[in-house]
Amino acid sequence: MTPYILVLYYSRYGATFEMAKQIARGVEQVQAIEARLRTVPAVSPLTEASEPAIPHEGAIYCSEEDLKNCAGLILGSPTRFGNMAAPMKYFLDNTSNAWVNGDLIDKPAAVFTSTSTMHGGQESTLISMMLPLIHHGMIITGIPYSESALSSTTTGGSPYGASHLAKGDDAKILSDDEISLCKAVGKRVAKIALKLGATDV
Ligand SMILES: Cc1cc2nc3c(=O)[nH]c(=O)nc-3n(C[C@H](O)[C@H](O)[C@H](O)COP(=O)(O)O)c2cc1C
Repeated sequence: MTPYILVLYYSRYGATFEMAKQIARGVEQVQAIEARLRTVPAVSPLTEASEPAIPHEGAIYCSEEDLKNCAGLILGSPTRFGNMAAPMKYFLDNTSNAWVNGDLIDKPAAVFTSTSTMHGGQESTLISMMLPLIHHGMIITGIPYSESALSSTTTGGSPYGASHLAKGDDAKILSDDEISLCKAVGKRVAKIALKLGATDV
């Protein structure tokens, strides 16, 4: 099976999902590697509540195998109070097997987020998502300033990762700069994974 970059996201209202799709397109621009889009279930304040096995919309849920066998990981979450959303944190808190077995060591990773306000914590959220990936031994990649949209954007986009400013009725519509930077992240992680020797699964 062709090696793949796992694009793993959580999205409540769809903006982060739109980013994930553009990132997956960026991955698919690179030959000999593909994107695998996966999501994580919501968590409920009622501990007895459970999600259906197949989500109503978006990608299917990420399995242990999806995570274990990826050649690289691109992780995305909406910003919640300057941090990643609980469902993504909950998912990561359950990755002890991958950590014990060193499944993600030396694999490239990147992060992305969406906020409703310009200075509402995109960079702190991006960094919060990097921390568990560092514990997993992953190689964190950002976005280099050779991507011209990084200097010209008036919406989202950060050297720490792709981001989106989700405003009002157009919350799910990404700007051209945001799309360009999402694709750049996907492409970069895919290329680095191949350079690091990603092989068939
Ligand atoms: C509980 C909660 C906390 C939030 N915290 C922030 C925040 O700290 N900064 C911000 O700009 N937006 C914040 N938002 C807005 C979301 O980050 C924003 O709507 C995001 O685009 C949602 O992504 P989604 O459409 O993928 O669910 C928050 C939203 C919720 C529900």
